[in-house]
Amino acid sequence: MLRLEGLSKRYANGDRALDHIDLHVPAGQVVGLIGPSGAGKSTLIRCVNRLVEPSEGKIFLGDVELTALGRAGLRQARRRMGMIFQEYALVERLSVMENVLSGRLGYVGFWRAWFRRFPQADIDRAFAVLDRVSLMDHVDKRADELSGGQRQRVGIARALVQEPDILLVDEPTASLDPKTSRQIMRLIVEICAERNLAAIVNIHDVALAQMFVQRIVGLRAGRVVFDGPPESLDPAALTAIYGEEDWSKTMTREEEAEDRAHEAASEQLRGVRAPLIAEAL
Ligand SMILES: Nc1ncnc2c1ncn2[C@@H]1O[C@H](COP(=O)(O)OP(=O)(O)OP(=O)(O)O)[C@@H](O)[C@H]1O
Ligand SMILES: [Mg+2]
Repeated sequence: MLRLEGLSKRYANGDRALDHIDLHVPAGQVVGLIGPSGAGKSTLIRCVNRLVEPSEGKIFLGDVELTALGRAGLRQARRRMGMIFQEYALVERLSVMENVLSGRLGYVGFWRAWFRRFPQADIDRAFAVLDRVSLMDHVDKRADELSGGQRQRVGIARALVQEPDILLVDEPTASLDPKTSRQIMRLIVEICAERNLAAIVNIHDVALAQMFVQRIVGLRAGRVVFDGPPESLDPAALTAIYGEEDWSKTMTREEEAEDRAHEAASEQLRGVRAPLIAEAL
């Protein structure tokens, strides 16, 4: 689904943020991208939707070479990429519904969107995704009236209403409490399973990543230094990614990790069968 070939980024000030990254993310796979601050995680995500222009290399989304697109082509391709940022990327004074509908901006013309004349089909779509993220009771609230977890679910709904092929997620849980963080990660993973969506999720919380994603990619100084399943992320791998440290306290104990993996998997299945998350979100 998404393929990076020899992707490099050097910023104007000479900072080399990405150094020949090769990465293939198949449809339906959720990749957790970890690495120390400054490793290049956000740069990688932003290169994919070309908020940041790569210096070298190619990026393919399906058959489309994103790095070869002009403005119009890029605008079309961006519809297929749902961005989810830290919770605060909402328009505060707009309602939940309006924030979600803004995800359709790539489809309806600018002026139509400006006057908030969205087609009924878009409004129906927005209700469907708001239902999926359990926000039907908050549709008319303003964004600034919501809790952090609710705001992040608006962000997820806005990305979904685009009907993307891939989700690009930058630290979705950075300012959430541990329980809400799990709920948000679970929701993202469930939705990817239901819709066969690929995702790259930048995340600092290694244990949280291990609990929910199928594959972990570790970046260090712009290079991939780890790529494998969560259970093979051992102290040696963490040292390769983050440097020397006593990792015994960060690591989930093996049997505990197995329990969690099991819990995450069954939850994922349950999510597919019952689209509404029953849990007290
Ligand atoms: N706009 C920019 N101009 C110049 N250098 C930048 C810019 N954005 C990022 N960098 C540099 O590129 C490198 C990678 O930054 P990036 O933000 O991608 O890291 P990150 O892994 O997302 O870090 P964090 O975990 O702190 O969010 C850093 O050295 C950073 O200083
Ligand atoms: Mg970042």
